[in-house]
Amino acid sequence: MSSKVSRRQFLSYTLMGVGGFMVSATVMPMVRFAVDPVLQTKGEGEFIPTSQKVAELTETPVRVDFTIKDRKDAWYKSDVSDTAWVYKEGDQVIALSPVCKHLGCTVNWEGDEHKNEFFCPCHAGRYEKNGKNIPGTPPLGPLDEYMVEEVDGYLHIGKTVPNTLV
Ligand code: FES
Repeated sequence: MSSKVSRRQFLSYTLMGVGGFMVSATVMPMVRFAVDPVLQTKGEGEFIPTSQKVAELTETPVRVDFTIKDRKDAWYKSDVSDTAWVYKEGDQVIALSPVCKHLGCTVNWEGDEHKNEFFCPCHAGRYEKNGKNIPGTPPLGPLDEYMVEEVDGYLHIGKTVPNTLV
């Protein structure tokens, strides 16, 4: 039995090797691009600085706007504006998401007829100050809560978590 490689076999192996390399060099970047968002870490532990001084917070919720820089949404990076309703309960700082749990409209603090409540103008959804949805109105769950921390006297806002107050 001869272990010699024929000229035809040599050419075939060489072409398969070179062809395989060229295909993988072409396909791998495409595969990497396609799954890139899956491979990214979400940075969920990040806190966003705001211009709100913690010492100026009271028991009345105030609207605090903040910007998330370079938020990655799949392949796109952009600055995203967000809002929280923030107040103090004793020493605890509470930040609630303004996103209504009915269909996602933005809730407001108090209206002419809804004292000491959050009110959603879209379908008259109502929430207590701690974010608890008021039975008999459209929302079926409480407002989410933001994680918060104080850095050098300023409020920093983190990710949303299910409401821990109700
Ligand atoms: S979206 Fe808020 S009550 Fe419907």
